[in-house]
Amino acid sequence: MTERLAFLGMGMMGAPMARNLLRAGYPVTVWNRTAAKAEALVSGGATDTPGAGKVTEAPGAAKVTEAPGAGKVTEAPGAAKVTEAPGAGKVTEAPGAGKAAVAASPAEAAREADIVLACLFDAEAVEQVLTGPEGVLEGIRPGSVFIDHTTNSPPVSRRLAGLLAERGAAMLDAPVSGGDVGAIEGALSIMVGGDPEVFERCRPVLAAMGSRVTLMGEAVGAGGHAKLANQIMVAIHLAAMGEALVFGAKAGLDLNQLVTALSGGVAASAAMDLWVKKVLRGDFSPGGEARVLLKDLTYIKQAMDDLGFSLPLAETLRGMFAELVELGHGLENPSAIIRLAERAAGVEARG
Ligand SMILES: NC(=O)c1ccc[n+]([C@@H]2O[C@H](COP(=O)([O-])OP(=O)(O)OC[C@H]3O[C@@H](n4cnc5c(N)ncnc54)[C@H](OP(=O)(O)O)[C@@H]3O)[C@@H](O)[C@H]2O)c1
Repeated sequence: MTERLAFLGMGMMGAPMARNLLRAGYPVTVWNRTAAKAEALVSGGATDTPGAGKVTEAPGAAKVTEAPGAGKVTEAPGAAKVTEAPGAGKVTEAPGAGKAAVAASPAEAAREADIVLACLFDAEAVEQVLTGPEGVLEGIRPGSVFIDHTTNSPPVSRRLAGLLAERGAAMLDAPVSGGDVGAIEGALSIMVGGDPEVFERCRPVLAAMGSRVTLMGEAVGAGGHAKLANQIMVAIHLAAMGEALVFGAKAGLDLNQLVTALSGGVAASAAMDLWVKKVLRGDFSPGGEARVLLKDLTYIKQAMDDLGFSLPLAETLRGMFAELVELGHGLENPSAIIRLAERAAGVEARG
């Protein structure tokens, strides 16, 4: 039996993830706080809106390029046919794709779904969408599953799993890495926490969005812990690159030569490969935002408090990203952390 899906959150990640579920043939009811984005997905069916595949840089992104148009998903043959179905909003029938409908609220989306997926900005958003008026908890049925793809705080995820269990529903926390390109291409790495039987039931759905789907542990929150470990490394690599470039600039080195010399050695990193050219141009434009990495570093702190330990670098980085955001750079990409080293040394690292 095909599982009926609901997807909440049509952001940079959620919209292409929902499209891939439609492409895989699942019926998907979508909801978004800003309704126009949900309507746009249904109008476009299982095809990507031109430009939606724009390649951007993002923390933790597996594959990121700056080539215009790269990573754009080929449109499915034929245009999606949009019809009005009474009580079900707009229904789209793209060839070979599942039916898409728009719901007026998370509760309405959850009411008819076997599996409710969400990819929202942060813990607060997930909490509101679950527990708020007309939230998921008002609609979800016993035996259903809620999958949270948000990079969330593990203690929050566990608490929400308890609320869902009171209604007879299961939860998996399943944050993703791979950036918007991975989401568009269905090539995300999905890190999952939760009951292994529930995971097996949901595996085909997850496989429609990700090329690597890993059960990290049987407790809800294990997926979040894995994703946050990823974010510790992303933050440290970016800060390390920033300090190395500023060190080189202060010493009068040619920074392009320095980058060439470091590439391929032990100091090289995916973060350097992805960001260094933009940093040397002084281009800190998004995608990927420093405020999002600060959110994740805050969840790392919450997880460490919950587990009863503290890590010096993760804590230092949280303070640094908080300062960067306070200085007004929260919407820049997170390689802008170099600005703190530049201020400290009184030099700009450009090449
Ligand atoms: N972008 C990446 O490369 C990337 C990579 C890996 C993981 N992630 C994680 O994936 C998650 C989603 O990221 P994204 O880039 O898709 O973010 P995004 O484009 O900013 O989308 C955020 C979504 O959350 C919704 N939202 C925010 N606050 C809400 C609230 N209070 N109530 C209801 N809905 C709310 C937004 O609705 P509106 O449209 O109404 O604003 C939107 O649908 C985040 O946890 C992020 O850390 C992102």
